[in-house]
Amino acid sequence: MNNNIVILGTQWGDEGKGKIVDFLSLDSAYVVRYHGGHNAGHTLVVDGKKIVLHLIPSGLLHPNVIGIIANGVVISPFELIKEIKMLKKNYISIKNRLFISDSAPLILPYHIEMDIAREKKLGVNAIGTTGRGIGPAYEDKIARRALRMNDLKDENKLSLRLEEIVDYYNSQLVSFYKHKSINYKTILNNLIKVKDLICDMIQDTTSILFKAIENNKKIIFEGAQGSFLDIDHGTYPYVTSSNTTVGSAITGTGIGPKNLNYILGVTKAYSTRVGNGPFCTETFGKIDDYLSKRGQEFGATTGRKRRTGWLDGVLLRKAVKMNSLSGLCLTKLDILDNLKEIKICTSYKNIGVNNKNYPSFYGFENVEPVYEVYPGWMKSTLGIRKIQDLPKEARNYINCIERIARISVDMISTGPDRFDTIIVNNPFLKID
Ligand code: GDP
Ligand code: IMO
Ligand code: MG
Repeated sequence: MNNNIVILGTQWGDEGKGKIVDFLSLDSAYVVRYHGGHNAGHTLVVDGKKIVLHLIPSGLLHPNVIGIIANGVVISPFELIKEIKMLKKNYISIKNRLFISDSAPLILPYHIEMDIAREKKLGVNAIGTTGRGIGPAYEDKIARRALRMNDLKDENKLSLRLEEIVDYYNSQLVSFYKHKSINYKTILNNLIKVKDLICDMIQDTTSILFKAIENNKKIIFEGAQGSFLDIDHGTYPYVTSSNTTVGSAITGTGIGPKNLNYILGVTKAYSTRVGNGPFCTETFGKIDDYLSKRGQEFGATTGRKRRTGWLDGVLLRKAVKMNSLSGLCLTKLDILDNLKEIKICTSYKNIGVNNKNYPSFYGFENVEPVYEVYPGWMKSTLGIRKIQDLPKEARNYINCIERIARISVDMISTGPDRFDTIIVNNPFLKID
């Protein structure tokens, strides 16, 4: 019997995954990041104190939880060290309880420069990336040219490979992108300064997970970004460069699919998106002002204003299917408290030949949302921890989401604090 949960986003990221991972980690032994990099920004609020994590698994605020950054993550060694220091300042030690895969590719300064140079060249067609070098780092992985964590262990080899790769990048950066060049020696020296700290944490994390599974330890797999930023299934090319859907929890760790026992889709009660790309339920004017101010919808990584919109029930239904979700966690319900009317998109107009229930993104530019409108509750739900204490209109809104997305809402989040959470069906107990 295993007790493993995957927690992933069903929209375009920032659904509140970090908060839910932190909350459910109270009951878990391991928390594993399995894809993405420091483009993620996961916010945790405990006793009024806010901590934003980009790379380190969100369960590590609990002193007994073991964290793993698995092979599917692209890791900037410098960001990793920064984050460990930030936690230390907050009296959280990760000593002997954070393990990093030997096979995880590195993000180095040339990836960041390339990301910035490409976005600049794209101009108005830019993706709106986080500028963290994520795309170029995954390109190196697929091109079989990446430096990986294990390469930090052999300084001579590292130095030779790094020189070759920097040459390759400089030729593109300078000739094609008319961008500044990068200095191989500076990168090498900086890597040498941090590598000993990191080498202590490098392990074959797949074996650690096999052992944890054999010992029936509870494991949480922490997704980053959201389902429609997926490189294959998202709004391409306005996506990130990893698979954000459930398959990454397998390929990004090395464990098998039977070890994923419950898959929780975290869904914001409305929608947001940072960066460019189609967003058919996007709101402007008063509603956008309301959602972005009350929801504090500014990126946890880049500080950019997030675009806002109504919940897209059609895409949510697709996210349920794509990820084989077991249940949803609806977050930020309290943000809707002062709205007289709340809308959910339940179908599209001008969908052409596209599948009505599970549309693809070809021809998506022309799609128009058809909304169902629900009465708001006009009462505070902030911090409510029992389902029966929610106003009846809020319960009605939740029931409608269940009907439209064809899945149960097993958890509800009513505030940023770890404990502002309603458990309708505990994912750990729902596993048979
Ligand atoms: P993530 O990337 O999915 O982990 O989400 P982010 O941390 O980027 O963004 C979610 C934001 O909403 C953070 O500022 C959280 O503290 C906050 N948050 C999460 N759940 C709730 C909730 O139920 N209510 C409110 N008001 N804020 C929440
Ligand atoms: P969390 O884990 C929201 C978006 C960027 C951009 C696109 C590509 O906090 O939910 P990238 O830098 O990945 O190449 O950018 O993806 N993006 C996110 N949006 N939340 C995230 O992570 C994101 N990570 C990347 O804004 O549109
Ligand atoms: Mg975020």
